[in-house]
Amino acid sequence: MSFRGLFIAVMLSTALIVSAFMLQSRRPRQEIARPTADLVKATGKCADCHRHETSAVVHEYEMSRHSKAGVNCLDCHQPSKGQEPYDHKGFTITKKLTSANCQGCHPKQFDEYLKSRHAAPAWAAVSGTADFTPEQIAFSEAVHKGAVDRPAHPLTAVEGVAAVNKGCRQCHDVGRPNPDGSIGSCTACHARHVASVELARLPETCGQCHMGPDHSQLEIYHESKHGVLFNSQRQVMNLAARPEKLNTADMPVPTCATCHMSGLEGEKFTHDVTERLSYFLFAPVSDRRPKFEEGRRNMKAICLKCHTNPKIAQFYGEAEGVVRSTNKLVKEADTIIAGLRKEGLLTDEPFDEPIEYIHFDLWHYGGRTAKHGAYMGGADFVQWHGYYEIVSKMTELKKSAEEIRERAAKHQPAEAPKAADLPDDVFKSGAADEPGGETHASAASR
Ligand code: HEC
Ligand code: HEC
Ligand code: HEC
Ligand code: HEC
Ligand code: HEC
Ligand code: HEC
Ligand code: HEC
Ligand code: HEC
Repeated sequence: MSFRGLFIAVMLSTALIVSAFMLQSRRPRQEIARPTADLVKATGKCADCHRHETSAVVHEYEMSRHSKAGVNCLDCHQPSKGQEPYDHKGFTITKKLTSANCQGCHPKQFDEYLKSRHAAPAWAAVSGTADFTPEQIAFSEAVHKGAVDRPAHPLTAVEGVAAVNKGCRQCHDVGRPNPDGSIGSCTACHARHVASVELARLPETCGQCHMGPDHSQLEIYHESKHGVLFNSQRQVMNLAARPEKLNTADMPVPTCATCHMSGLEGEKFTHDVTERLSYFLFAPVSDRRPKFEEGRRNMKAICLKCHTNPKIAQFYGEAEGVVRSTNKLVKEADTIIAGLRKEGLLTDEPFDEPIEYIHFDLWHYGGRTAKHGAYMGGADFVQWHGYYEIVSKMTELKKSAEEIRERAAKHQPAEAPKAADLPDDVFKSGAADEPGGETHASAASR
């Protein structure tokens, strides 16, 4: 071989070795450690046996990018720190997987998720601080002041454990505290074994939780032009596109994920669903978020991939009008309730008097829905499920307040009635159904 030939050969092989090293160094840590004979054996054995025992698990896994990338059953199922080991057919696995089982290979997604309201704040909204460590509370409070350090929601006591476990917690466990010390699970949007971005981009995936009269995001989306177009063009879209490369040819129409998470055409892709928001729309009266300008800029950057500036400005201007006028109506309702409380005609306890439910429906159903409808393109939700509900509940609320005052006036005669003139149950029940009566006592005795 000539010197020139030898030189080229040496250069080529050096380049090959260097690029192999570079490729290798970019792979997740766990993957570099493989393939050890044990792990290869593990997946073969797990899958072989589980093909008979729980075949759907294996089929789902086989469809995943994990199986193509060589991530095996034991990579996820081995106990991570703080998880109880479980001896299973010659392997040590864990039965309860958490976000900690994904964290090692996906640290960026994990960190962003942990900072979002999908983490600790979601659980605290139902159960308060009780299940968190002081460190977990401090971490989340630093990002979302007041979102974790708060009492359990009063409805949980009224409805009871069965309702809370099968109701509230099924949605709010997206941020549950786990026995291993971690928070939440990543499977709410990715599922366990298919672990797919395609699934996470479907509106129905978010709609598992984001639906119903108090947060009708899924219904609003399906009413919007975006939802209608998505449903008709879904077949020609590339919903499995890699997040770093996602462009408007893959998805010319946005889904929930596109607006709230995706890195469309080079924008920052995030697991912190709070990053693009400007108002606290879920609140009775919606204030600006601490990062109002930034949130708005982030969201508009996504709209601008598909729309023009004047159109987006107009859209935001009109939606802001809805926030302002809804705030005004909710404040009016708040004033009525506060007035009754001040006059001693309502107890301090929430959810023990019918008028409190009228008030709750007014802002929690009507108010929220109007605001969400305005920001996500659902005219029917702004109007019939929104403002119409607010104004009809307002009429009910006023009427009910009037009746409470009338009843109270009747029960406060100039001279105190003799005990014999009063029905027995006034004393027994503490006049539970008389908001003007001694309801404090009745509330305390319950
Ligand atoms: C020889 C058959 C066999 C092998 C090998 C096997 N499993 Fe299982 N696995 C079962 C059966 C049967 C069950 C049903 C519950 C039981 O009997 O423990 C099960 C249950 C499970 C469960 C649910 C446990 C629970 O109680 O919720 C998990 C998770 C699991 N296997 C994962 C794995 C993983 C991961 C591997 C490989 C490291 C593996 N299995 C290997 C047969 C097997
Ligand atoms: C991407 C991570 C991941 C991989 C890879 C994975 N699993 Fe799982 N698996 C999970 C999670 C998460 C759960 C839910 C555990 C829980 O309920 O806490 C689970 C649950 C299970 C269950 C219980 C199912 C049920 O509904 O009762 C079985 C059985 C199981 N896995 C077997 C397997 C087998 C076999 C493989 C390989 C073919 C595998 N898993 C690969 C994450 C994974
Ligand atoms: C051993 C490392 C490892 C573990 C553990 C792991 N993953 Fe992955 N994950 C990967 C690799 C590697 C890829 C593929 C990346 C690629 O193709 O370039 C991937 C891809 C993904 C994708 C993209 C799938 C797609 O359709 O594009 C999702 C979503 C995902 N993982 C979620 C999870 C979740 C949720 C868990 C925990 C339940 C988990 N992963 C656990 C290594 C891991
Ligand atoms: C398992 C249920 C569940 C799923 C699935 C889910 N979410 Fe959520 N989401 C919640 C809960 C609960 C909250 C309220 C958290 C809180 O207390 O502020 C929330 C809050 C949000 C918020 C508001 C965050 C804030 O700062 O106020 C956005 C935006 C959001 N989710 C978007 C999404 C998107 C997009 C998807 C789908 C890709 C999705 N969610 C899937 C349960 C879910
Ligand atoms: C169908 C799923 C689902 C159920 C069931 C559910 N929630 Fe929620 N909840 C959500 C979603 C999604 C949001 C976010 C709404 C938004 O940001 O617009 C939310 C928001 C909230 C909020 C406002 C956000 C915050 O952090 O203060 C509170 C409080 C709350 N839920 C409490 C409860 C309680 C208490 C129950 C049971 C009595 C319950 N939820 C049942 C899905 C659910
Ligand atoms: C609220 C729903 C939701 C939750 C919860 C969630 N993800 Fe995702 N995830 C998504 C969406 C949506 C995408 C795709 C974004 C896009 O369209 O580009 C994604 C993409 C990914 C990817 C692919 C990244 C890539 O570059 O290929 C990984 C890995 C991933 N998620 C891991 C996780 C992990 C780990 C957790 C838990 C800490 C988690 N996800 C929790 C919705 C979610
Ligand atoms: C076209 C983009 C777009 C789509 C699609 C979209 N959203 Fe939104 N979403 C927004 C905008 C804009 C806001 C208001 C942001 C703000 O506060 O400035 C919003 C607000 C929200 C909020 C309210 C958070 C709060 O403060 O109460 C939640 C939750 C939410 N969206 C979830 C979803 C879900 C779930 C879907 C799909 C069913 C969806 N979004 C579809 C743009 C979108
Ligand atoms: C991925 C592209 C994409 C993104 C991102 C997107 N849209 Fe759209 N939008 C569309 C398409 C496509 C249509 C349908 C236009 C038509 O009728 O041809 C549409 C329609 C609309 C419409 C109704 C039709 C009209 O022109 O009045 C409004 C309003 C709208 N979008 C607002 C927004 C807002 C606000 C955002 C950001 C929060 C946004 N869109 C983000 C693609 C997008």
